[in-house]
Amino acid sequence: MELRRGILRREPDIFEIGRKGHVGYSLPGGEGAEPSLPEHLKRSEPPRLPTVTEVEAVRHYTRLSHWNHSVELGMYPLGSCTMKYNPKLHDTLTRMPAFSRMHPMMDDASITEQLELLKNLEDALCAISGFDAVTLQPPAGAAGEFTGLAVIKAALKKRGEADQRIRVLVPDTAHGTNPASVVLNGFKPVSVQTGPEGYLTVDMVREHLDDTIAALMVTNPNTLGIYERELKEIAEEVHKAGGYVYMDGANFNALMGKVRPADIGVDVMHFNLHKTFSTPHGGGGPGAGPVGVTSELEPYLPVPRIVQDGDDYRLDWNREDSIGKVHAFLGNFDVFVRAYAYILEYGHHLETVTERAVLNARYLRARLEDVLEIPYDTDTLHEAVFTDKTLKKETGVTTMDIAKRLLDHGVHPPTVYFPLIVPGAFMVEPTETESKADLDYFVDAVKSIIQEAHENPELVKSAPHTTGIRRLDETRAARKPVLRWTPAPDSNSQ
Ligand SMILES: Cc1ncc(COP(=O)(O)O)c(C=O)c1O
Repeated sequence: MELRRGILRREPDIFEIGRKGHVGYSLPGGEGAEPSLPEHLKRSEPPRLPTVTEVEAVRHYTRLSHWNHSVELGMYPLGSCTMKYNPKLHDTLTRMPAFSRMHPMMDDASITEQLELLKNLEDALCAISGFDAVTLQPPAGAAGEFTGLAVIKAALKKRGEADQRIRVLVPDTAHGTNPASVVLNGFKPVSVQTGPEGYLTVDMVREHLDDTIAALMVTNPNTLGIYERELKEIAEEVHKAGGYVYMDGANFNALMGKVRPADIGVDVMHFNLHKTFSTPHGGGGPGAGPVGVTSELEPYLPVPRIVQDGDDYRLDWNREDSIGKVHAFLGNFDVFVRAYAYILEYGHHLETVTERAVLNARYLRARLEDVLEIPYDTDTLHEAVFTDKTLKKETGVTTMDIAKRLLDHGVHPPTVYFPLIVPGAFMVEPTETESKADLDYFVDAVKSIIQEAHENPELVKSAPHTTGIRRLDETRAARKPVLRWTPAPDSNSQ
């Protein structure tokens, strides 16, 4: 049987399904149906459009959608990127006319209820994190980092120390966007090496502290999934030296309801709503990376601020120390509706999200530890990072090969080769939304691949075998993506 149009197989001509005479529309014919256009505006030749019927077109696009993995098809355990299921109820809420019919240019008086929702979300994030104020404006985690560091810069300027305090300490377990945000704000990143336990100690930080320190920027839990257990003492030291503590809170789904960062001395933190509060992550955005700060730093937050005036809410632009705007209008409003709904659903039990996320990650770690090495013994929280070091030596099979072979099992691979401090890193984050049955499926798939690596390594090294597209030249695909279908020369004449 020919599998030319099968769901999984891809043959070179899968895009050439046009047949002469096939059409996907019906227009009224007869007298008056011809538009009365001047002759010179009429086409001299028919357009080169695919000649397919409606059902062929629908099946074509549906087939393509099945070639892509999504969190709605199966587990998507990307470490650090956090792909959790997004409840459909939240999508429905965003389509309520009060939200979907809002226009960005509406004045404050016409959107006072919508502003109330945003203020409630800000207040909820303050309550969860312990900060005194939150801005929702930044459109992503990295944009939150940029904003938070700009706030620190503005505060240092006000103190008259911006020229002197230019160094920001960034541990080697930080997310990759952290040093970039440091540089974009005109600071100098200073790498701090973590020890064999995988977390920072007071001594490691202390040796870098002097009066040129602007801040410590620490991802917590860090990119090894390890909690920074000395952060409270470290924060005290950084404050004594006159610096601020920035916590990358993108991994807050490992701490929510358990630790309030402001209580352990953090001055600024961004949230990743798409990582913690189950809003869509799709295509790099639109997302939201709200930033929380202590009262000392509140005057520098972006404008406008949402303020309550009696029963009404309005936007306050009149804040002379503000760093200005970091995003158009109010930010990505739909994302705020979804995140607020998630918080309200859990109410006072948000810690159950954390507990399930951590339990799931620890379960995977415990079940895979005997077949894949863990480079740091320290307990981990919401994710686990493995290394291919020994497997590669024994079989030649690498992290990339395991990732590709997982596709044959219908599972999206975890994050690979990040963090950089782990050779051949295989970084798994199951999230709280996966069931035990799905976790077990993933474990069984990884274990069977590792068995194959020992018995028939070529099978793993040449994977994937069943996907629409096989192994790509990933560099070329990223640098020179082919995103457009171009009709074959004779596609209209078949
Ligand atoms: C720890 C950490 N920090 C920052 C970011 C950057 O967030 P975004 O991708 O929204 O810019 C991520 C991304 O997932 C992250 O995992």
